[in-house]
Amino acid sequence: MEKVNLDWGNIGFEYRKTELRYISYWKDGLWDEGKLTEDNMICINEGSTVLHYGQSCFEGLKAQTAKDGRVLLFRPYENAKRMIHSAKGILMAEVPEEKFVNACQQVVKANLKWVPPYGVGASFYIRPYLFGHGENIGVKPSPEYIFSVFGCPVGPYFKGGMTPVNFVVSDYDRAAPNGTGGYKVGGNYAASLLPLSIAKKQGFADVLYLDPATHTYIEEVGSANFFGITKDNRFLTPKSPSILASITRRSIVEIAQKYLGLKVEECQIPIDSLDQFVEAGACGTAAVITPIGGIFYKGKLHTFYGDGKGVGPITKKLYDILTAIQVGEHEAPEGWIVEV
Ligand code: PLP
Ligand code: COI
Repeated sequence: MEKVNLDWGNIGFEYRKTELRYISYWKDGLWDEGKLTEDNMICINEGSTVLHYGQSCFEGLKAQTAKDGRVLLFRPYENAKRMIHSAKGILMAEVPEEKFVNACQQVVKANLKWVPPYGVGASFYIRPYLFGHGENIGVKPSPEYIFSVFGCPVGPYFKGGMTPVNFVVSDYDRAAPNGTGGYKVGGNYAASLLPLSIAKKQGFADVLYLDPATHTYIEEVGSANFFGITKDNRFLTPKSPSILASITRRSIVEIAQKYLGLKVEECQIPIDSLDQFVEAGACGTAAVITPIGGIFYKGKLHTFYGDGKGVGPITKKLYDILTAIQVGEHEAPEGWIVEV
């Protein structure tokens, strides 16, 4: 397959218009067939709930090229399930799992020349999204929905990929204790923009949020979940109803247990207990596994492995196995890899 001419190793995490995207309309209780289109613009009614009341959710997943040229999706049914969960949470029409995965496959197939070749350190990022539109003015669920999927090639979300980054603990919250934090809805990301811009101005890669009720336990990063490795090799990750249930985290939990024999604990992690960790990381589709160099809290940078400059051995192993699974080079638990 002939590829577009890109410097694959240096493309960053940016939007690029690719050939075709998928779009499908829901009305009167039914989804239409959906179709691929060249048009990357969407024209909607001025009263659309997405514009006023934030009725929108999205997903993110990746396609990778294997050594033998096959193109592989990583756990797309988990993203499909999570989009249904998000849709339920803000009363939107649900996209059936098969329709979701099929749309992702169509978009990848239609844009194969944009899918990075094997081994270049880039992936094809797929962005499914769902929102309410149509004539409306009051606060109520929308009469109509659009489900669309586009994709583009991306490099690492955090600069340098497997290079440690520093995060800052924020006084802001991205979600409320009994709010929408567990759904992948647009409003959570709107809430994260101001704290993120402050963090970036201060030189940090992202924000680490604490639990919104007490501000004492670690929640997650604005774009990824948190994990830490203790001195006695336990994998700890926050338990909270207001964080997004990361599919990457669920996957590395299995990898940690199954292939590395680590003990895993999903528990409350006090921000005052960072000393227990020798390694820490952020995990997500875009972030993959990004080592955390340090966390700035109460005027002090708390550093992890190698004075915040190194990549710990367990973080490295988790990364190596996860990325090997994603390109079909390591055995994977049943159903994780779906060929396009
Ligand atoms: N947490 C937040 C707030 C995110 O935006 C993401 C990205 O999707 C994640 C965690 C990681 O989730 P996943 O591993 O399913 O991509
Ligand atoms: C992803 O990892 O897919 C996300 O949605 C994170 C986003 C903030 C880029």
